[in-house]
Amino acid sequence: MSANRWQNHNLDRILIDSATIQKRVREMGQEIARDYQGRSPLLVAILKGASIFHADLVRAIDLQVAFDFMAVESYGASTQSSGAVRILKDLDESLEGRDVILVEDILDTGLTLNYLMHNLRSRGPTSLKIAVLLNKPSRRIVDVAADYVGFDIPDDFVIGYGLDFKQQYRNLPDVWILNPSADSARP
Ligand code: PRP
Repeated sequence: MSANRWQNHNLDRILIDSATIQKRVREMGQEIARDYQGRSPLLVAILKGASIFHADLVRAIDLQVAFDFMAVESYGASTQSSGAVRILKDLDESLEGRDVILVEDILDTGLTLNYLMHNLRSRGPTSLKIAVLLNKPSRRIVDVAADYVGFDIPDDFVIGYGLDFKQQYRNLPDVWILNPSADSARP
């Protein structure tokens, strides 16, 4: 699938191309493998956005890892964060005594990860860290810092590589900027 075939009125331009993403994800995997040498971390993907990043990141970590999935709801269908976080699907695994890495596609206001960190910390993990592909520092409302960051990005609405606009575009291999006029457009 080529990104060009997806060029339509909702896509503005590529912010981070696929090759750059893949290179950075490999580096992040190597960094995590170094930090967790001799351990077997549990990598928790927060669905749905993190699914693509998680799938690439776990394959870039040269360690025995386990993974699990959690689904939360925060944004609704709009481009603005509502601040409300609700668990739609909880973990299968116990976190007691585990080295846990939360894997997210984007750290924006920080509301989602702030909620998740408090929630998961209470489940008794040995350690709890955060890996995000994209970080928007200018949007932060609550003080959350990721331990592993792929890219700091400006305050544009981004789609692709897991990130959606109205549940579409998650399978684009590149990260695109959404056309600012797309709010009123069909997905
Ligand atoms: C996105 C993203 C994070 C959250 C980040 O999820 O995957 O979970 O928003 O925003 P925050 O820092 O402002 O809380 P979204 O609710 O869009 O769901 P999705 O992962 O299913 O796309």
